[in-house]
Amino acid sequence: MKFRTCLLVILTLLLTAPGILGPASTSPRADPASSTDEPGILTPPAGDHPRINGPRIYGARPGKPFLFRIPATGQRPMTFAASGLPQGLSLDPQTGIISGQVATPGTYSSTLTAENSFGKASREFRIVIGQTLALTPPMGWNSWYIHYHRVSDTVMRQAAEQMIATGMADYGYSYVNIDDCWMVKVNSDDPEIGGLTRDADGRLLSNKRFPDMKAMTDFIHAKGLKAGIYISPGPETCAGYAGSYSHEAQDARTFADWGFDFLKYDWCSYSTKAAGKTVDDYKKPYTQMWNELQKLDRDIVLNLCQYGMGDVWKWGAEVGHCWRTTGDLGLERATSLPGFYSIGFSNATHWNHARPGAWNDPDYILIGWVGDAHKQGEGTATSLTPNEQYSYMSMWSLMASPLIFSGDMARLDPFTLNVLCNHEVIEVNQDPLGRQARITRQTPDQLVLTKELEDGSVAVGLFNLSDKPAQLTVSWADIGISGSQSVRDLWRQKEIGRFERTFTATCGRHGVVFVRLASYSER
Ligand code: GLA
Repeated sequence: MKFRTCLLVILTLLLTAPGILGPASTSPRADPASSTDEPGILTPPAGDHPRINGPRIYGARPGKPFLFRIPATGQRPMTFAASGLPQGLSLDPQTGIISGQVATPGTYSSTLTAENSFGKASREFRIVIGQTLALTPPMGWNSWYIHYHRVSDTVMRQAAEQMIATGMADYGYSYVNIDDCWMVKVNSDDPEIGGLTRDADGRLLSNKRFPDMKAMTDFIHAKGLKAGIYISPGPETCAGYAGSYSHEAQDARTFADWGFDFLKYDWCSYSTKAAGKTVDDYKKPYTQMWNELQKLDRDIVLNLCQYGMGDVWKWGAEVGHCWRTTGDLGLERATSLPGFYSIGFSNATHWNHARPGAWNDPDYILIGWVGDAHKQGEGTATSLTPNEQYSYMSMWSLMASPLIFSGDMARLDPFTLNVLCNHEVIEVNQDPLGRQARITRQTPDQLVLTKELEDGSVAVGLFNLSDKPAQLTVSWADIGISGSQSVRDLWRQKEIGRFERTFTATCGRHGVVFVRLASYSER
């Protein structure tokens, strides 16, 4: 693109696009000091026409229960069809839920179709029956940062209902995960949560707020969603509830019997049992649980939560599907930037360890209505500005991080949903190539992340870390591409134009410009 045309495009953008130094617009949580450059809702509303979203590739083990709800936006009623599904799977045309089990390993190329009175949409969907789960980063919700020790069967069922009702499931969110505090609390005399931690046969018991785990997961599965659970390998969890220590095999079987699809395995109180601080010591409880999960008649994704000890990113893939790389995001103190930035910066450095089935996990998306983790109280609206929230979601998407929201599902407002549910942003996260973005540039004022995508295009995040609007540039040489590139603004889902050699945009305070670059000939 010639310099003048480029200037024109940028100028037009500056004048029309609120996130790129535009006029002030409705700003749900704008910092008053910077409200002039805080964007409002950027994600265009989903149209009436059907659109299939979420992962394009999905893994399951041979002979294990298979469950996948086709995520699709568009007017309901909608009907679904699929061609090329492997033998053993069937699709409910009304709900779009694919279930069954596949005996024969292999890669099956299927085509999914969603149809309503406005039209029809089709999309390729690769089903890989083998040993690898989580071929794309898990997407869902976790109870911790809003319910803490108040979590119950009721809130989990409501969260599943809300995942459908708010439309989050139509973008690919599927895991409904309980965090800590569902078990019996050790030495508690509270009749709701105290009592025996295990029955006479050593089987782990849930507390009275979870009267029937199997009924709860059946409820979640009936919606085509998945259920997750949490425990620690130590005698107690971080919040002092019963842990799995010396009952690992039995607990793994219990989780499978109860119908769980995801296990977050913490570390808390295991230090009292670990022999030392070598990598083998750190790895031991995860190896043990991983081996138990392999024996089950059920696929369970294993999420390691040991805060990065022993450089977990170097070995996490041998014993799990994703691993927390840092301490708790909700406890991270802000510097000149909110806490998610330092967690993100640290997670970003491990980019070369991520791949399908193996993801760096920088913890949850804490936006919307969330509880302060220091107080573990009831929620309040996030203090992050709109620019910061767009930066957060863009960073997580580029880092191929699990996209697990942990705010209040009952209080999802339009702005929060716009951050969580932009299908072009999610597409970058769920890209089948499974690369994590490289750090192309990091200075105190700027971060540039670039992620290669399966179709040959490149997603680029230009993050302004400074306190004022700033111009950020990425050159093709920085990211190893050449030629004419069409640049698409992912948040606005809009083509910006055709560029040669460089792209420059103005980002608001703590804001991001998130684009996808594709060789011009490809479009
Ligand atoms: C640890 C984990 C958190 C959460 C709590 C629960 O702090 O890192 O994500 O699971 O335990 O007690």
